[in-house]
Amino acid sequence: MCGIMGYVGPQQAAPILLDGLRRLEYRGYDSAGVAVTNGKIDVRKAEGKIDRLADLLESEPLAGTIGIGHTRWATHGEPSDLNAHPHTDPTGEFVVVHNGIIENFQSLREELAGEGHVFTSETDTEILAHLVAREYRGDLESAVRSAVAKAEGAYALVVMTKREPGKIVAVRRISPLVVGLGEGETFLASDIPAVLHRTRRFLIVEDGEMVIVTEAGARIEEIAGGAVDREVLYIDWDAEQAEKGGFEHYMLKEIHEQPAVVTETLGGRLDEDGTAWLEDVHFDDDFARNFSRLWITACGTAYHAGLVGKEIFRRLLRIPTNVEYAHEMRYADPLVSSNHLTVAISQSGETADTLAAARLTKERGSRLLALTNVVGSTLAREADDILYTRAGPEISVASTKAYLAMLIAQYLLALRIGRVRGVVDEELAARVAHGLSLLPAHVEELLHHDDEVLAAAESIVDADDVYFIGRGLDYAVAMEGSLKLKEISYLHSEAMPAGELKHGTLALVTKDTPVIVVLTQQALYDKTVSAVQEVKARGGRVLAVAYEDDEQIHKFAHRVLRIPRADDLLGPVAAVIPLQLLAYHVARLRGHDIDQPRNLAKSVTVE
Ligand code: AGP
Repeated sequence: MCGIMGYVGPQQAAPILLDGLRRLEYRGYDSAGVAVTNGKIDVRKAEGKIDRLADLLESEPLAGTIGIGHTRWATHGEPSDLNAHPHTDPTGEFVVVHNGIIENFQSLREELAGEGHVFTSETDTEILAHLVAREYRGDLESAVRSAVAKAEGAYALVVMTKREPGKIVAVRRISPLVVGLGEGETFLASDIPAVLHRTRRFLIVEDGEMVIVTEAGARIEEIAGGAVDREVLYIDWDAEQAEKGGFEHYMLKEIHEQPAVVTETLGGRLDEDGTAWLEDVHFDDDFARNFSRLWITACGTAYHAGLVGKEIFRRLLRIPTNVEYAHEMRYADPLVSSNHLTVAISQSGETADTLAAARLTKERGSRLLALTNVVGSTLAREADDILYTRAGPEISVASTKAYLAMLIAQYLLALRIGRVRGVVDEELAARVAHGLSLLPAHVEELLHHDDEVLAAAESIVDADDVYFIGRGLDYAVAMEGSLKLKEISYLHSEAMPAGELKHGTLALVTKDTPVIVVLTQQALYDKTVSAVQEVKARGGRVLAVAYEDDEQIHKFAHRVLRIPRADDLLGPVAAVIPLQLLAYHVARLRGHDIDQPRNLAKSVTVE
């Protein structure tokens, strides 16, 4: 969802911008462009993949050591060369890139058109270039300030002018923006991995702030005026973590990282007796003992992690727990109040809807806990408590390792709260801790059964529709398996509780319709098998994910993907691995762009 780059320093800017944009590709985009200033402003931009922009730069190179770049994910106006960023004002002296949406763009466009402005694109962004130029009185910061004062919506806006060479000015309202501090050079980017191979020292630009970037560094101010003293954040991620590491796709690499991710997420946080130590969860025992309701809010895969969390919290804590899609919750006038705890789950920590729902719960007095993967993300900064998933940078649009880490983190949170509330006794805590400690080996073992998953993928690759069923925790995992499959294979798929099948969807099951059943919950085993029988009776083809020692399953399923025996409470963690691999193989067999599925963005920073 739009990526931003900026560079001021002694090196040629265009190659650095291009390299950063490639590292932001995972956010999703449909055109790309760069601009440099060197006595004048020069722009190159092209619809399509970054390679097209690279070809353009090859044939029409850009010279200059100060520049800005952008990958665009279309909102206003189709993907095209003209609508691609950067955009200039009519004199070509001011140039901007922008991530976000200007909500009042129509009225601003009419106002400017009334003054004689002529636009070359359909974008909301071009209006900002015109506005900055109109407001300019010899000082870029003031011009940007008065331009954004007229704009409503979400944005990270980056501006350069040939009149003040050596400087880039950027502002942030909601959409993310970071500054990388090098030696005698400074970078701007939408996120840290884009320039992590160039520096480990970062300044995070917060909502409502402006940053003035020169080769000597960066100065942050409030947009409204007033200096800001921002601490430098040192990032110790391994830059290698952001590369494919020999795998064909980031998604496969990230699936294979999961044993290490489980170890990392648990690292130093769990004693054998089930005592959990969560470094950035600050609520005291009194709060843990007394809060009366738990809300989980998230979108997409993070929401599915929340579905698992709901079951974990319900079973272990016996606390009323709601799990809500953030985009629904933010408009639903939820009955959140003080003495509640909200867990907002987001890999990126930048998902606009999740941030909005989280803010709403906070406004209503709830304590807010951010369960996120990105250190220093907006969600993390706004929360009272943070539980970092420690999954490392996730590049593939389809989330895998971050999901798994979200599950592990929720077990830890349940233990932390459950022990204080006295509802998780020593025996249960130790049992869960033991189960968690076995998981890295279990996940590793599952990765060695890739051939069986590939064979299963071959058996469904030509299907029109696939259905996933399960009960309880298995249903939560089925939801994630179904999303994974549809988002990268483009195969229609739906998940539902096994008991729901006969209330409608069974009408769609005919000869050879693939139905994937997740079967780890032993207490519900027979009930789920009844639904499987209903499928078989209609000629459906059943693929089961079941424990390795489940001897009955062959009576009901045409094909079985085995997972190591585990405590039922932890069953979903292993069960999701074959489903992730299944989605990967189906998408690969169908020849799709696995890491960047069509129409999707890694980080959905607009509503
Ligand atoms: C997952 O595969 C998806 N790409 C998507 O559903 C994602 O989980 C969702 O957009 C939420 O993102 P977040 O975790 O960064 O908030």
